[in-house]
Amino acid sequence: MWHFDNTAVPAVKTPLPGPRAQSLLARDEQFMSPSYTRIYPLVVARGSGAVIEDVDGNLFLDFTAGIAVTAAGHCHPHVVDAIRDQAGKLLHMSGTDFYYQPQIDLAERLARLAPGPSAKRVFFTNSGAEALEAALKLARWHTGRSRALAFLGAFHGRTYGAMSLSGSKLVHRRGFSPLVPDIHHTGYPRGCTACRNLADPCLCVEQIEETVLKRVAPPEEVAAIFVEPIQGEGGYHVAPPGFLPALRDLCDKYDILLVADEVQTGMGRTGKLFAMEHWDVEPDIICLAKGIASGMPLGAIVAGEDIMDWPPGSHASTFGGNPVSCRASLATLDLLESQYIANAAERGEQLRQGLARMQAQFDELGEVRGLGLMMAVDIVEGGDRQALAPQRRDELIQAAFQSGLLLLGCGESAIRFCPPLCVSAAQVKSALEIIADLLARGRDMRMTG
Ligand SMILES: Cc1ncc(COP(=O)(O)O)c(C=O)c1O
Repeated sequence: MWHFDNTAVPAVKTPLPGPRAQSLLARDEQFMSPSYTRIYPLVVARGSGAVIEDVDGNLFLDFTAGIAVTAAGHCHPHVVDAIRDQAGKLLHMSGTDFYYQPQIDLAERLARLAPGPSAKRVFFTNSGAEALEAALKLARWHTGRSRALAFLGAFHGRTYGAMSLSGSKLVHRRGFSPLVPDIHHTGYPRGCTACRNLADPCLCVEQIEETVLKRVAPPEEVAAIFVEPIQGEGGYHVAPPGFLPALRDLCDKYDILLVADEVQTGMGRTGKLFAMEHWDVEPDIICLAKGIASGMPLGAIVAGEDIMDWPPGSHASTFGGNPVSCRASLATLDLLESQYIANAAERGEQLRQGLARMQAQFDELGEVRGLGLMMAVDIVEGGDRQALAPQRRDELIQAAFQSGLLLLGCGESAIRFCPPLCVSAAQVKSALEIIADLLARGRDMRMTG
């Protein structure tokens, strides 16, 4: 295991990118697809917990978790031991055609942990997008209906079904038509006062019924409604209190399946294992990936056993649920259940309070929102919460990188905080101090300039 002095993090010793990073970046530039969206030149060598070392020996505090993935932290010894042990026994045998215990163990554990009283079954994939594809296919199969509803601002992945469900950015869709037909988008309730004040009825859901289901998509043709309990790439917008329960009721009224995309919100990130638990709503299908195996490729859908009724051969994936990823996931669940879900709730609250305090000091900070360690703050101009400042947000993320803090953006002008769920109180404090320092420097420059 890699040992380093935690009190010395972050530690940026070279100009960024350093010399080793520069030579790797030049090769990347020549050989890698230009479709990726790297926003700063971080070339990673290794990681431990919430700390990353780059190839030049610089140490960073990681508040990205590799885009909300390394739930138990980078290379947690319990996860690494499980991977090592399994790698020495069996790397692959394909769950499509054969049986192996890690897959059965994990299916049972996820089925028992998923919210709601009904019995569940699990289908394994390699990624989030594949989980969405599986959910769309299963919903169409089970209901015999073709249409689906999804939300503006949603991001569900980049394969055809997942891309067609997404309503986030044009760059995800432009030039890739024809997309999957019969998918309709409707507004996600952002900062909706009706829903915030009235748990029941939720006026946003009434709107969906009045507009989409009565004018555009006959409900008896709608297989499923796909929803993120907190929109991830869309800006960490949390569903207002009454929205998801009312959406559940709407689905029940018309025998439509409710699919929760918990690819980003799941696996403890929001302070509960599944975010839907915050609303006490049982979805018909849950999509998982990202944090499920702390960095090993794995995804899953968990569905009611009466819903997962497709016949042998109708859906499968050679690698989906491979034994090593399943063991990593079981080890991750041990850690989440014993300590890190609780830690996500506590550290999330620390982060929220820290950002809220800073909001009073710096007029560049707008709305603070999120749950647990899925937290974001809008960057705005001149204290006006509506005046979103995406360029300034990007500058702050670059400046944080130069100071040794890894951050990502989301939505129009938000900075998101999605560190590994093992992040410590001291690390959250350091991250907040770095941001306060950057904001103070900006304010001083504006005052003197
Ligand atoms: C909510 C949500 N769904 C689906 C996906 C797609 O997951 P993947 O990149 O593993 O295909 C993402 C990825 O960011 C996501 O945030």
